[in-house]
Parts: sequence; structure tokens; C-alpha cells
Amino acid sequence: MKLWWNQLMVAAAVGAAVLLIGFGLTGKAAAQAPVAPKVPTAGEAFKNVTTSTLKGLTVSDFLGSMGVMAAALGFDCADCHPSAGSDKADWVFDTPRKRTARRMVEMLATINRTSFGGAQMVTCWTCHHGRNLPATSIALDALYSTPNEEKSDIVAVAEGQPSATEILDKYIAAVGGAQRLAGLTSYVATGTSVGYEGLGGGGTFEIFAKAPNMRTTSITFKDHPERGDSIRTYNGRTGWVKSPRGLLPQFELDGTDLEGAKLEAMMAFPGQVKTVLNNFRVGSTDNIGDREVRVVQGTGARGLLATLYFDMQSGLLLRVVRFTPSPIGRVSIQMDYGDYREVNGIKFPFKYTFSWLDGRDQFQLSGVQTNVAIDAVKFNKP
Ligand code: HEC
Ligand code: HEC
Repeated sequence: MKLWWNQLMVAAAVGAAVLLIGFGLTGKAAAQAPVAPKVPTAGEAFKNVTTSTLKGLTVSDFLGSMGVMAAALGFDCADCHPSAGSDKADWVFDTPRKRTARRMVEMLATINRTSFGGAQMVTCWTCHHGRNLPATSIALDALYSTPNEEKSDIVAVAEGQPSATEILDKYIAAVGGAQRLAGLTSYVATGTSVGYEGLGGGGTFEIFAKAPNMRTTSITFKDHPERGDSIRTYNGRTGWVKSPRGLLPQFELDGTDLEGAKLEAMMAFPGQVKTVLNNFRVGSTDNIGDREVRVVQGTGARGLLATLYFDMQSGLLLRVVRFTPSPIGRVSIQMDYGDYREVNGIKFPFKYTFSWLDGRDQFQLSGVQTNVAIDAVKFNKP
């Protein structure tokens, strides 16, 4: 019993969650109210995940928390997992650093529980700040140079700002107006992509979007077909990520990660911006490069938090940072938009950068076609 169960769980980690839904409905449960789909936890899906806070996460949220660890210490996956990034990766083996990290995960939970009433005040980043060994004193050069520009995740409400509705309405007007946006039912954008430090460079991509909430980004590496395509998709209910050389060749999004994918799919249609999040609040103005921006934050389901930055002059959206919770710090993803150009009366950002804790893709659009028929297959599991 135990053995086949384990094997099933490993299979399930790679997206066979459907199997489990089937199991959930057999026997007694089938006669009662429908059972919520059960996806395997990281503790079940992986061989050696044991910390009290990480083992209960879904697989995609667990991988998000790995990104949090790596980013907080300035590490690559390979700094804790031998040969990560190659065919010989051994994720299960416990290196000394991995053991230390496990101890830190428990320490963090204890600090937040005993000193901060269970609120997540301390994360890996709080101490590590991109170093493996936390610094204990400020460098005097840092003391006398530009002030620390790191932002609080939670935007504090500021007095004397326009309301969120006014800012969002200005954005809708700037992009083309509510009426034109209501007539936008689908689009296909094409262009070229460059990965961080040239990684994954030379790609061509297509973005497929269908109102109200379907979106797929597909990058193809023409000169390196052996890499395989890189695809992120959300079909209105569920989503998948397929990444070349990724740990899992492809996996189904679940947990809070799924809420983030939904936000991105809905934001592809700016006319919906007022309904994609709740509890909008407006913070102090800020700067992105040489642009002054208005800052609006909202919340979504399952702890999703997103901050939207609008150009103060043009009203256009310049940046979205979305945060999903994890036991060791929030998982952040940032989207930057620029080079807005008009296509059939609607402004589209022809420059788009997608940054996550483990990589960054830059997209330069060459064309957008609006209201074209898109084969439903494009939003299926890749
Ligand atoms: C600071 C060290 C550290 C870094 C960096 C790190 N991990 Fe981990 N990883 C761990 C620890 C610790 C565990 C075990 C967690 C537990 O027991 O709850 C783990 C477990 C895993 C597992 C489960 C393996 C198994 O089958 O038991 C996978 C998969 C994994 N990490 C992937 C990644 C990926 C992908 C990255 C890069 C984005 C990464 N890790 C970066 C420390 C690290
Ligand atoms: C309260 C401050 C603090 C927090 C929070 C913290 N650490 Fe640490 N960490 C330290 C200190 C201090 C050291 C060096 C002493 C040691 O290794 O025990 C360290 C060392 C480490 C090392 C060993 C690095 C090396 O190269 O030897 C790893 C790995 C690590 N921490 C991971 C994490 C992870 C992952 C988190 C979040 C779950 C975290 N730490 C949170 C203070 C902290």
C-alpha cells in the first residue's frame, strides 16, 4: 500500500492531480458533498521534504519558496543542491548548506511565532540580504551613499492622493477608453525575447489572450530546438508552466501561484482592472527610473497581494509586482511595461519584462493582432 502510494504521489507531482481527484471521490466520500480536489503536498510529492512549514505546501508553492531561499542568500539552486541545472541534479541529497537551511526554516517559524504573534515579520531576507553569511555591521560607505530603496511589501495608505478609482479610470482612458476596451475580446502578440544575461536569448514568442481570463505565453528557440519551448498558460481555471531545463519539465500551477496566473490573465484586458483585485488602497507617489508614479495596491484570494504603478503623467501602467505568501517570505513576480503603441485604437505595451526569483525574460513585441480567433488548444496543458 505504502509503496504504490508513494509512486502515485511522485507521478502526481508532475501534474497527474486528476488521478487524485478520482481517488478523493471513491468510496464513502462520493455519496457526500463534492470533495475539494486534493493536490499532493510537497512532503508527499518529494522524497526528503520534512520542515514543519514547507512540507504542507503545494508543489508549485514549495518551488516558489525555494526561489525565496535562493534569492535571499544570493544563491543558485546548485549552491544547495549538487549539480542542479544539469542532468545529474540530486535534489534529495542533504548537503551541509541544505541542512543549515532546514534549521533556519524552523528558526524562522519560531521567531515569528514567539516574538511577533505569528505574523510574518522576519523572513530569510531580513537577515541575509543576498549574502550567505549575514553582515553584522553597516559599511560606512553605505551609510553615506543613497538611502536604502527597498520597499515595504504592504503599501501604507497616504493622505492627499487621488482615489484608487480615479487612478484606475485614468489608466482605462489612457489605454483607449472603456468602450473600446469592452470591444477587445482577444489578441495575439508576437516578437522576440531575451533572457537574463542572454540566457534563453534569441527566442521568438507569442502571447495569446482571450477575454475574460485566458492567457498563454509561449517562447520558442528557433536556433536551439533541443531546448524545447517555454510556456506559461492559464485557461480560466487552471494553469501550467513548461520550462526548458526546469526541475520538473512541466507542472500544474496550484495554491497561491494559481491566483497570480489568474491576475496576469485578467490584467491582459485593462478594461477589467477594477475587478481583478479587492480592497484597493493608494500609497505615496514614487519613482520608477525617471518617471513619477502613483501606487495602488490590492489583494486577491489566498493571500495574493499586488502593487500597481501608474505613470503620473500619462496614466499608463508601468509596473505590477505581485506577491504570494510562503512560510519563509513572500514570492514576488514583477512585470514591467513600456513603449506603449496604438493598435486599432488601443495602447499595448510593446516592451514587456517578466522577472521572477529565478530568472527574467524580456519581450520586444513586433506586432499585435486584435480580435482574432484563437484555437482553444492554445490554452490547454502544454
Ligand atoms: C539555501 C539552500 C537551498 C537553495 C538555494 C535551494 N534549496 Fe531546494 N531545498 C533546500 C532544503 C532545505 C530542502 C528541504 C526542505 C524541507 O525539508 O522542508 C530543499 C528541497 C528541495 C526539493 C525537494 C527534493 C526532494 O525530493 O526531497 C526540491 C525539488 C528543491 N529543493 C528544488 C530547489 C530549486 C529548484 C532551487 C532553486 C530555485 C532550490 N531548491 C534552491 C534548500 C535549498
Ligand atoms: C535571524 C537571522 C537569520 C534569519 C532570519 C535566517 N538566517 Fe540563515 N543564517 C543566519 C546566520 C547568523 C548564519 C551564519 C551562522 C550559521 O551558519 O549558523 C546563517 C547561515 C545560513 C546558511 C549557511 C550559509 C553558508 O554558506 O554557510 C544558510 C544556507 C542559511 N543561513 C539559510 C537561511 C534560510 C533559507 C533562511 C530562511 C528560511 C534563513 N537562513 C534565515 C541568520 C539568519
